[in-house]
Amino acid sequence: MTTQATGKRSRLDPEPMPRRDWLGLGALWTMAASFLFATIGMMRLPKAAVLPSPSKKFKVALPETLAAGEPFIPPGRSVALFRDAEGVFAISMVCTHLGCIVKPSADGFECPCHGSRFSAGGEVTKGPAPKPLPWLQVRVNGDAVIVDEGTVVPHGTKVS
Ligand code: FES
Repeated sequence: MTTQATGKRSRLDPEPMPRRDWLGLGALWTMAASFLFATIGMMRLPKAAVLPSPSKKFKVALPETLAAGEPFIPPGRSVALFRDAEGVFAISMVCTHLGCIVKPSADGFECPCHGSRFSAGGEVTKGPAPKPLPWLQVRVNGDAVIVDEGTVVPHGTKVS
């Protein structure tokens, strides 16, 4: 039996690929894969990665049993709604000191962070809060009350 040491090779027995060519092909495939993954990554960029914040305007129905001067706090909101003989009004519950959420108390609101106290109308009765709690714009539409947390109105503004 004889073997061909040199001579023309067939398609079934190709010339072995030189190491340099094999490494070059590997680099090309790596570059192509990197380009593909970068393109896929760029296609995902325009999508929002966070949930949108809730609208500052919201509609809420006041409970029928809400007594005059009793606060109603809609779930997930930092606004206290009140109804009395003169109408409906809303007071922001965001403390004017450093932004903690105040809690209703027997005589108004109190801040759990640094102890500020506010009257039932939002006026500062004890610091360190520098300003009263803002009153917010409300509109009454039938049984529903529409509150705009982004619009401050003068203290004492009530709508019926
Ligand atoms: S944040 Fe309310 S008193 Fe400081």
